[in-house]
Amino acid sequence: MSEKRHPTKYMGEEYRRLKRESLDWELKELQTASEPVCTIAGRQVTMLCANNYLNLSTHSKVVEAMIETTRKFGAGAGSDRSIAGNMTAHEELDRHLARFKNAPASLTYPTGFMANEGLVPQLGGRGDLFVSDELNHGSIIDGVRLSHADRAIFKHKDVEDLTRVMDEAKKHDPPYNHVWIFTDGVFSMDGDLAPLPEIAKIAEEHGAGVYVDDAHGEGVLGKGGRGIVNHFGLNHEQVHVEMGTFSKAFGVVGGHITGCEDLRSFAYNKSRTWLLSGGVPPGVASACSAAISVLESEPQHVKRVWENRNYFIKAMQDLGFDTGNSETPIVPVMCGESKRAKDLAGFIWKRGFFALPIVYPMVARDKARIRVQLCTKHTEDQLSKAVGVFEEGGRKLGLI
Ligand SMILES: Cc1ncc(COP(=O)(O)O)c(C=O)c1O
Repeated sequence: MSEKRHPTKYMGEEYRRLKRESLDWELKELQTASEPVCTIAGRQVTMLCANNYLNLSTHSKVVEAMIETTRKFGAGAGSDRSIAGNMTAHEELDRHLARFKNAPASLTYPTGFMANEGLVPQLGGRGDLFVSDELNHGSIIDGVRLSHADRAIFKHKDVEDLTRVMDEAKKHDPPYNHVWIFTDGVFSMDGDLAPLPEIAKIAEEHGAGVYVDDAHGEGVLGKGGRGIVNHFGLNHEQVHVEMGTFSKAFGVVGGHITGCEDLRSFAYNKSRTWLLSGGVPPGVASACSAAISVLESEPQHVKRVWENRNYFIKAMQDLGFDTGNSETPIVPVMCGESKRAKDLAGFIWKRGFFALPIVYPMVARDKARIRVQLCTKHTEDQLSKAVGVFEEGGRKLGLI
């Protein structure tokens, strides 16, 4: 008789393989709030890799809104929004976001991942085509995979290649019913921007929809942090779905989409991740709304994060570091092979700075880097010390 199957043995084997190949995630415990200086795994370090670009997670108005609504409405929504958990705080947040984005309607989801994974597969099926930038976020990739639509990938940010794909699609017989182009707004590993005006133009010529994931752009790009659609002076008839998240610059948690009224009602009737999952706690919805209010009334946060980003990238480039194609507060410090990125991250960690090495398979084997993310509350002193430590480590490793 063959050996009896063991239901979980393969998990340990797989984990050990990941560890052997240095592909495992080592979780670091954050023992204080997400601030520029925090305690991680017992050490006080300067944080250089949080998504909390504007430090709103600890902004008093955001925190107070969460506490006040929680006291009044409880810790949970009590149900899925689709059933009995659609509270005033959720509806107010949806409306507030639409006003902020200057669009007819918005819909919020528990997370950004759930927005992409829930909505994308509903936008098309057999007889439709989904066209996706090769470096799009995993939640778009998964969303596209969940649909029965045909798929085509275009080279990263390559408008010519996108044109080629779209011209090819035109010849499809029978003609495709619906065609959607998906792109990140800010690409999270490189901090570069999608050529959204050109994409919107190509889409318009082909009668295609445009879906942009602006998770790392909103709060940072556009007037008062309104995001990439505003940044490029576009509107929601040119970019049909503007998707984003409250988990990054807004400092809370929760995904969202913005566009026309039909998009909103389609999305909540069709996205399984919305229909079949609990509504976020009302306090969370109020905190997200308060974060939008902060952006509307305190423009200094967005201004400051750009000043910090410009200071850091210039200092690093002056030293001879390769900072890739960054156009935003995401600044990759290119290291080449994985080992060098890990060694440099280890070096700066020992000196009291925390930034994540991004290695294969998240990026190509020869494109390992340390991803630095600047935030509003970094001081010039913290950043100049960070640059000094990068310089020391970079020289040791032969990067500069
Ligand atoms: C580009 C992009 N899209 C979507 C998401 C998912 O957002 P959330 O954290 O709200 O699930 C992320 C988060 O990593 C992201 O970077």
